[in-house]
Amino acid sequence: MRFATALAVVAATIGSAIAQDPLVLGFNSGATDDTGAAKTQKDFEKEFKTAKNLEGAPGNFSAIRLYSNIQANTADSPIEAFPAAIATNTKLLLGIWASGTDNIDNELKALNAAVKEYGTKFTDLIIGISVGSEDLYRVSEPGIRNKSGVGNSAETIVKFIKTTRERLASTTLKNVPITHVDTWTAWVNTSNKAVIDNIDFLAVNAFPFYEAERDNQISNAGSLLNSALSAIDGVAGGKDVWITETGWAYSGPSFGAGSASVENAATYWKDVGCAIFGKRNVFWYTLRDANPANKVKFAVSDNLSTKPRFDLSCKVKKDLPAPTPLSNNSTTSSGNTTTGTGSSSGSGGNGTYNTPGSSSTPGSSSNPKGNSSRPGVEQSNGAGITSVSVVNSMALALSVVFAVATWAL
Ligand SMILES: *[C@@H]1O[C@H](CO)[C@@H](O)[C@H](O)[C@H]1NC(C)=O
Ligand SMILES: *[C@@H]1O[C@H](CO)[C@@H](O)[C@H](O)[C@H]1NC(C)=O
Ligand SMILES: *[C@@H]1O[C@H](CO)[C@@H](O)[C@H](O)[C@H]1NC(C)=O
Ligand SMILES: *[C@@H]1O[C@H](CO)[C@@H](O)[C@H](O)[C@H]1NC(C)=O
Ligand SMILES: *[C@@H]1O[C@H](CO)[C@@H](O)[C@H](O)[C@H]1NC(C)=O
Ligand SMILES: *[C@@H]1O[C@H](CO)[C@@H](O)[C@H](O)[C@H]1NC(C)=O
Ligand SMILES: *[C@@H]1O[C@H](CO)[C@@H](O)[C@H](O)[C@H]1NC(C)=O
Ligand SMILES: *[C@@H]1O[C@H](CO)[C@@H](O)[C@H](O)[C@H]1NC(C)=O
Ligand SMILES: *[C@@H]1O[C@H](CO)[C@@H](O)[C@H](O)[C@H]1NC(C)=O
Repeated sequence: MRFATALAVVAATIGSAIAQDPLVLGFNSGATDDTGAAKTQKDFEKEFKTAKNLEGAPGNFSAIRLYSNIQANTADSPIEAFPAAIATNTKLLLGIWASGTDNIDNELKALNAAVKEYGTKFTDLIIGISVGSEDLYRVSEPGIRNKSGVGNSAETIVKFIKTTRERLASTTLKNVPITHVDTWTAWVNTSNKAVIDNIDFLAVNAFPFYEAERDNQISNAGSLLNSALSAIDGVAGGKDVWITETGWAYSGPSFGAGSASVENAATYWKDVGCAIFGKRNVFWYTLRDANPANKVKFAVSDNLSTKPRFDLSCKVKKDLPAPTPLSNNSTTSSGNTTTGTGSSSGSGGNGTYNTPGSSSTPGSSSNPKGNSSRPGVEQSNGAGITSVSVVNSMALALSVVFAVATWAL
């Protein structure tokens, strides 16, 4: 749906519950739980039921985004989230895990097996398929390579998108919209434009919490998210943009001015979540954490109680604050307006002095392995391939510069 249409839907429903149809509200769901154990059908069912029955929720959280079609610890068995979604009438944004591989045969095999087994009870629930998740971010941005797990190139992602369309052409999924999920910094990188050209809508993971090189204190979070969304809308060529991951950590280490606390997580929901629910398709990060390697935790209800960690109601309906402008250099951009000092990636920099793995790099201090912490992106693809991506100050700072340089052309 075009944004203008989305606004019309919202306008028509102001005062009542937030619009769900055709816009969706949902959560992300990893193949494993926060101990790394494979989730069973029963686990998924419980999760999907909790999502729909959260006390005080401002709408119907009846959609789930998956990262893989393959059940964890199997080669190519369909993920047990599928029958769980059927049992709970949960809409699905499917994910094809596409990193560190030259083919997606097992992903498509698992999907086609499920289509055969469950038929339209399954396929009617599918609202989209994402070929890949943050692969471009992991493979492309300087300083992040080899620190954030394997990714994949735009060329390979495009190849996989074409393969997916071909293999689904003779199934009931032939008209399901195809996307790719990535960070806003990857989307605005013109090297990745071929991916935009080959998908039906864009999907973005955006976390002001991790944007340590900008002024990412909680009070500025809505403005940062808005600037990410504006940047992507600017390159989307009129295609719809879904938010596939956003949220604020309730515990764990800080990233720049981004501080993890239950209070801040609640504020982000109220100020940012309530401003985007019903305006775009949104998959919150997250109901339940799924990455034991990530010390930063986001779960709204990790014990799957329908009583959430904080108040989910959206009492005051508001819009996101104006976007923080992006500029050629950080003197004028994000800046560290709070302190006005040149912090790790603050004023005056082109990012190059902020070396990956240095103490100022998010991830290095928070993870003994030196590569923690983007959420949701460590996902087993069922074949034991795991990937952890990192937001790196330097890469993001450079991306901001790059984005503006691109627009100036
Ligand atoms: C929530 O969404 C589900 C799945 O689309 C639907 O079955 C259910 O009726 C919806 N509930 C409400 C209260 O709208
Ligand atoms: C854009 O993507 C290309 C190709 O992956 C990569 O080489 C380049 O570093 C990226 N630029 C930025 C600013 O991330
Ligand atoms: C990662 O490091 C290995 C070995 O140093 C190198 O061969 C490979 O190209 C690197 N990958 C990326 C994405 O930079
Ligand atoms: C990053 O962490 C993962 C698991 O958390 C580990 O397997 C990988 O080797 C680490 N990479 C680097 C470069 O430290
Ligand atoms: C701003 O600078 C202060 C002090 O140098 C630092 O503690 C803080 O993390 C910086 N904030 C950002 C967003 O870089
Ligand atoms: C689950 O978590 C909620 C919120 O954090 C808490 O209030 C509740 O007591 C927990 N329930 C159980 C059974 O642990
Ligand atoms: C960015 O740099 C370009 C070329 O140097 C310039 O034309 C443009 O006005 C600058 N934009 C901003 C916001 O400073
Ligand atoms: C940064 O941007 C400002 C304002 O656009 C400009 O005056 C300054 O020369 C720029 N600095 C660099 C290093 O490009
Ligand atoms: C980035 O800035 C550093 C320090 O100011 C400088 O030494 C380096 O040449 C610059 N790199 C680029 C690519 O502009």
